[in-house]
Amino acid sequence: MTTTTTPALAAFTPAHLPQALRLSRQAGWPHRQQDWALTLSVSQGVVALDGDRVVGTALCSPFGPVATLNMIIVDEAMRGRGLGRTLMDAIIALAGDREMRLVATTDGLPLYEKLGFHATGQIVQHQGIATAAAPDLPVTTGTSADIDRLAPTDRAASGMDRAPLLRAIAAEGEVLICNTGFALLRDFGRGRVVGPITAPDTATARAMLTDAARRCEGTFLRADLRAGQGLEPLAARLGLAPVGGGTAMVRNPQTPDPTTFALISQALG
Ligand SMILES: CC(C)(COP(=O)(O)OP(=O)(O)OC[C@H]1O[C@@H](n2cnc3c(N)ncnc32)[C@H](O)[C@@H]1OP(=O)(O)O)[C@@H](O)C(=O)NCCC(=O)NCCS
Repeated sequence: MTTTTTPALAAFTPAHLPQALRLSRQAGWPHRQQDWALTLSVSQGVVALDGDRVVGTALCSPFGPVATLNMIIVDEAMRGRGLGRTLMDAIIALAGDREMRLVATTDGLPLYEKLGFHATGQIVQHQGIATAAAPDLPVTTGTSADIDRLAPTDRAASGMDRAPLLRAIAAEGEVLICNTGFALLRDFGRGRVVGPITAPDTATARAMLTDAARRCEGTFLRADLRAGQGLEPLAARLGLAPVGGGTAMVRNPQTPDPTTFALISQALG
């Protein structure tokens, strides 16, 4: 049911998560409520309310000099009336003078271009039932205690200060270490996701992607890869087919382009 009144914006709180989950499912996104909760735990955001019904969501996740803007969804029945733009204006204000990054869907791209974002590359979503192969380089297992020394590596590659997020993911998931690089593997959506993959070179990144697939053999694994960094054919060989993705975009750029091989998620970069 929709009304003709203009939805009001309110601060996004954990109480809104079940209704936010309804919207992401309606949009065909695989997030579980835990996936929303992890993102919300490092974010501020807004919901659009039609009475007490959540009809729009948008989050801003600040990581030092960079903020990622994410989970921007308008109820199908309310689209095309300016609500998406209103939500974006609210989270752009939350980001302040930071660099803003997002990964745009086809639906969102025209709106983001109008708001001054420009494309920096493509993100390719690979997923499927993982197959096992031996990595070409040794990959060891770390713990969340390793994040203190690994976070600067992520900072250098991503431009973002996100040690608390990495620690939270590592506490629940697995830490893979190879040379000076690392990757995190965690439950997400329909199965598991590997990301970030942060590595000094492609060979190191390839070894960690291969080892992640080995650890997930026979089960669903996803990786959101930066296009053109040499991991896509390998991902396909490991059972992770390309199924779509999005356009990486930036507004108010202040840091070098990120060099991580895989994202934590399209939401969190
Ligand atoms: C993207 C989304 C949030 C836009 O919400 P919306 O409420 O329909 O957007 P608005 O009505 O505010 O439109 C915003 C602007 O984009 C334009 N626009 C929207 N869709 C467009 C399209 N397909 N082609 C061209 N322009 C488009 C509108 O004309 C409007 O421009 P204006 O403000 O200059 O008039 C909505 O389509 C959605 O929830 N999609 C599914 C989830 C999704 O993909 N989210 C984006 C994640 S990155």
